[in-house]
Amino acid sequence: MTARFITFEGGEGGGKSTQVALLTEAFAHAGLGVMKTREPGGSAGAEAIRGLLVNGAVDAWDPVAETLLFYAARMDHVTRLIRPALEAGQFVICDRFTDSTVVYQGVGKKLGEGYVQSLQRLTLGSFMPDLTIILDMDPAEGLRRADRRGEGENRFESMDVDFHHAVRAGFLRLAKDEPARCVVVDAAQPIDAVRGAILAAVNERLGLALS
Ligand code: TYD
Repeated sequence: MTARFITFEGGEGGGKSTQVALLTEAFAHAGLGVMKTREPGGSAGAEAIRGLLVNGAVDAWDPVAETLLFYAARMDHVTRLIRPALEAGQFVICDRFTDSTVVYQGVGKKLGEGYVQSLQRLTLGSFMPDLTIILDMDPAEGLRRADRRGEGENRFESMDVDFHHAVRAGFLRLAKDEPARCVVVDAAQPIDAVRGAILAAVNERLGLALS
């Protein structure tokens, strides 16, 4: 199977959805089969769970219950959408995946990375992305950008700035622990420069020639 599973990760306002769209276009332009998706969500059941997670009061959920909801959504998404697309030979590009839970709930909400990684193993087994692009930027600037976007769904954006600093550190630690899978890209650069850095990483890691 030549198809690959690529995920985008990072804090708020780093331009993930823009870059996911641009990379998807680059695959399509090269004539490669590609599916773009996102978490929480993707499949019908997971999109319903998304509504429970991203709206409402900051403390709407007990952190363990919240984590289980993320994995419930993820299992549905993986079994109904992601695995079938990969098996059909498509590349899959996903806006956030299991690393977001390890970092937001494990580090940010202090459940512990190990705790969340055990749930990850219980649910996903060895199924992991082939390549993870981490869009890194100063959380204060990211939150300003996310605020300007102002699209609602801001339950996590409303967490205090210490939470977002812990999230940034969590993603950078993960990248250090798993260098074969993760690439960190400076998301404070202009959009075109970020796009270029992502294309270079994808081409190098997956042996492609996207432009
Ligand atoms: P997302 O739709 O990617 O929002 P954004 O584009 O603002 O980053 O994700 C919604 C929120 O859910 C985001 O604040 C991060 C949070 N989240 C977690 O806390 N844990 C998770 O496992 C996932 C997938 C997202």
